[in-house]
Amino acid sequence: MLVTVASAKGAPGVTTTARVLASVWPQDVVLVDADPGGGDLSLLARRPDEGALDPELGLLSLAADARRGLADRPLEAHLQQSEGGLDVLCGVGTPDQMVGIAPVLPQLGAAFSRWPGRDVVVDVGRVTPSSPVLPIVQASDVVLVVTRARLEAFAHLRERVRWLAQLRDASLRSPAIGIVLVADSRDRRSAGDLAQLLAHEGLSATVLGQVADDPRAADVVGGRLQRPVARSLLVRSVRQLVDPVRALAAARAGRGVGTPV
Ligand SMILES: Nc1ncnc2c1ncn2[C@@H]1O[C@H](COP(=O)(O)OP(=O)(O)OP(=O)(O)O)[C@@H](O)[C@H]1O
Ligand SMILES: [Mg+2]
Repeated sequence: MLVTVASAKGAPGVTTTARVLASVWPQDVVLVDADPGGGDLSLLARRPDEGALDPELGLLSLAADARRGLADRPLEAHLQQSEGGLDVLCGVGTPDQMVGIAPVLPQLGAAFSRWPGRDVVVDVGRVTPSSPVLPIVQASDVVLVVTRARLEAFAHLRERVRWLAQLRDASLRSPAIGIVLVADSRDRRSAGDLAQLLAHEGLSATVLGQVADDPRAADVVGGRLQRPVARSLLVRSVRQLVDPVRALAAARAGRGVGTPV
């Protein structure tokens, strides 16, 4: 299963959510950093021995292999292990590097969607019509759009969902769209308001759940603070997303290829 995690605008918490989601994912998983604005993973994550990750080993080395046909080295050769044992594929350092590897991104999207024995969670950053990583979004089973609970964020989200719903790849496949709301855990209204707004607009996107607005735990995930987070509101709330994400992917698979959204 290929799950992409994206934003419409701003920095609502895509990288944080994707990292936690991958770390609690119940199956073998790979976390891919494909943010076209430049990856944060190689800057934030650490190897289990606390050393820095090698930024050259990841999307860039995989893209170089892809130009030669992907066959000579397995995908796994481009992974690095990060703290907690999570396997990660580091992203690019600069936006022009992502533009440089754009010709092979359709091939990489297809490879991620059928990674042998693994599910794949990809941080695709802000998803716009000009994003070079759209082929990866198009290849995904589910695109999770992360948003904050603010009026202007909802307005941008609505427009991006409208546009995403029309995305089709060459085989007429399109990802199911799931919305993840980052909000105070005591906020019991915003998710319902957002679901109503999307339904009112006739948009086929499912509000999958709420990620706790938990700045301290987010700081731990970002490496700015050290303390246990397994029982934090953030991790517990992301854990609750796993089943809805998998159900949405399964429902999409049941809909069949080429069926309108
Ligand atoms: N669930 C959360 N609760 C509180 N703060 C959060 C949460 N998720 C992320 N943050 C904070 O929000 C800021 C942006 O987070 P993050 O880098 O994950 O967002 P992003 O959407 O990937 O941004 P960018 O588009 O810049 O890559 C960081 O300071 C992070 O600690
Ligand atoms: Mg990010």
